[in-house]
Amino acid sequence: MNLIDKRTMVVMSNSSVLRVYITGTPGTGKTSVAKDLSHDLNLEFLELNDLIIKEGLYFGYDIDRESYIVDDDLLKEELLKKMKKKVNLCLSGGMVLQDLPIDYIIILHTSIHVLRNRLEKRDYSKEKIESNIEAEIMNVLYYDFTEFYPSEKIFEVHNDDRSVQDTCEHIKSIIRKHHLGISQ
Ligand SMILES: Nc1ncnc2c1ncn2[C@@H]1O[C@H](COP(=O)(O)OP(=O)(O)OP(=O)(O)O)[C@@H](O)[C@H]1O
Ligand SMILES: [Mg+2]
Repeated sequence: MNLIDKRTMVVMSNSSVLRVYITGTPGTGKTSVAKDLSHDLNLEFLELNDLIIKEGLYFGYDIDRESYIVDDDLLKEELLKKMKKKVNLCLSGGMVLQDLPIDYIIILHTSIHVLRNRLEKRDYSKEKIESNIEAEIMNVLYYDFTEFYPSEKIFEVHNDDRSVQDTCEHIKSIIRKHHLGISQ
C-alpha cells in the first residue's frame, strides 16, 4: 500500500467505512479488478456469486439463462448483516443491489469485440453470449442502478486500454478524489 492509499484509509477510518461495488456484465473484469482493489486498499473481498451459492440465496437455477435466480431480499438481508460489522468491503458481482449503503458503484465496461472474445472462451451457449453482449450495448446495468442510487455514486470505467492493475489505479483515483478531494 503506498502513502496515498494509507492516507485514504486514515481519512476513511475517521469518517465511516468504505464500501465499493465492482459490477458490470459478465467478463468485464469485475473479479480481477475487485481482488486487486481489495488487496491495495485492504478491503474485505466478497464475490456475490459465491455468497449466493454458499448461503442458498436463490429460488432456483434457470437452465435457459444458465444462472441462478437470485432471491434479492435474502441477498440484501445477508449483505446488511455483513455491513453492520463495519468492515471495509469490496463486492464483486453482476446483479443490481437495491438501496444498500454502498459508497461507490463502479460499472466496468469492455468493448464489444474484446468482450465477445472473452465470452467465447467460456462454456456459454451462443444465446447467453448474445444476451450478455446486448446488455452491454444497452448499458442495462447503469440504468438499473440509477433507479436505486444517486448518480454521484455511480462511476463507469472503461478498461479496454487498461490492464487490470491500471483499472484498479483509476478506481483508486476516483475514491481518493471523492474521499479526500484530491484529484490527480
Ligand atoms: N482490464 C483488463 N485487461 C485485460 N484483461 C482483463 C482485464 N480485466 C479482466 N481481464 C481478463 O478478462 C477475463 C475475465 O475477467 P473476470 O473473471 O475478472 O471477469 P468478471 O467480470 O468477474 O466475469 P464474471 O461475470 O464471469 O464473474 C479474465 O481472463 C481476465 O484476466
Ligand atoms: Mg467474476
